[in-house]
Amino acid sequence: MSILVTGGAGYIGSHTCVELIKAGYDIVVIDNFYNSCKESLVRVSELTGKDFAFYECDIRDEEGLSHIFEKEKIDAVVHFAGLKAVGESCAMPLEYYENNVGGTITLCRVMKKYGCKKMVFSSSATVYGMNNPSPLVETMPAGGTTNPYGTTKFMIELILSDLYKADNEWSVCLLRYFNPIGAHESGRIGEDPNGIPNNLMPYISQVAIGKLPKLNVYGNDYDTHDGTGVRDYIHVVDLAIGHIKAIDHVLETQSLDIYNLGTGTGYSVLDIVNAFQKVNNITIPYEIVDRRPGDIATCYSNPAKALAELNWKAERGIEEMCRDTWRWQSMNPNGYKA
Ligand code: NAD
Ligand code: UFG
Repeated sequence: MSILVTGGAGYIGSHTCVELIKAGYDIVVIDNFYNSCKESLVRVSELTGKDFAFYECDIRDEEGLSHIFEKEKIDAVVHFAGLKAVGESCAMPLEYYENNVGGTITLCRVMKKYGCKKMVFSSSATVYGMNNPSPLVETMPAGGTTNPYGTTKFMIELILSDLYKADNEWSVCLLRYFNPIGAHESGRIGEDPNGIPNNLMPYISQVAIGKLPKLNVYGNDYDTHDGTGVRDYIHVVDLAIGHIKAIDHVLETQSLDIYNLGTGTGYSVLDIVNAFQKVNNITIPYEIVDRRPGDIATCYSNPAKALAELNWKAERGIEEMCRDTWRWQSMNPNGYKA
């Protein structure tokens, strides 16, 4: 079975490529390297001992995609390609809608043309919006997103749902990720953000390596156990394995299903700082600053549906997430750049 992985050179994509190959799938990767580089794919080959087809291609390029579908026999698609920075999406909404929504429509059009109607899509807990209480369950109303990035995810969920309604030959899994952190245990692949990281864990690891002087903790007056924001952090390898289960599922069924991929446990910002310090024996200087606009107090999943229907659950705990993050960061102080 051959799986097309869009955005396969990125953080979650590269880890998923490793797990797909380990599970015995053939993969074909496309990426435009907007937020990644070829080196991650070289390392996926090294880690798995397997070569695979790779195309530098933009998902908005209908002709380029058609050429790939003509050349390769694709059974299903794992669709990661997209822009993902919340702040940037507020500054550049058109680029986000064009890339994420427009790109997905083009991809689906080409898939349909070549009779490939099976897709696993990277959605996000952000589609639950601000008003649903945690633990978040798939049956809760989605929408009410607060930034263009989140709205692109919600719009794509609607588009793929309509596609399935119009043609039941499609089979689609919408995977709502919570907060992926960590890295492959080898320390060879991991998250390599451009510039100053927006997200908590890459920020902490750049403080740990000495690139940034201290962590800003955005608020300690939330209604949580220590006042700092609570999230459902999930090890990226557990998340990657969730995609294998989802691919198995779309290949076996004709349905549209939504699954939370999280651990079901919430940790605060200070829980993460403390775990990172303890596991890696490093001090992380931090300062409490104002809340970050748009943040909510608490966001964690109820992951029961993925366990019941996909037989998937996250296995790796917070210590492993902190240890693997630091192994990647310390072995690759400049990410994939030499
Ligand atoms: P990433 O930026 O590391 O990976 C995305 C990849 O897609 C990059 O390699 C980028 O170059 C590529 N890409 C972007 N636009 C493209 C285009 N038009 N054509 C071809 N390639 C393109 O991000 P990630 O953290 O690995 O996230 C993967 C997916 O998961 C994204 O869709 C993201 O929105 C979603 N997601 C991520 C998180 C998270 O916290 N990391 C949470 C929820 C959902
Ligand atoms: N935080 C800090 N300091 C930082 C960065 C973050 O205190 O420098 C705090 C935030 O206020 C929040 C927590 O750490 O309480 C997690 O913040 P992240 O930015 O790491 O993650 P978010 O939960 O805000 O957002 C992430 C992704 C979004 C996605 C969302 C839900 O970045 O794209 O999860 O899936 F939409």
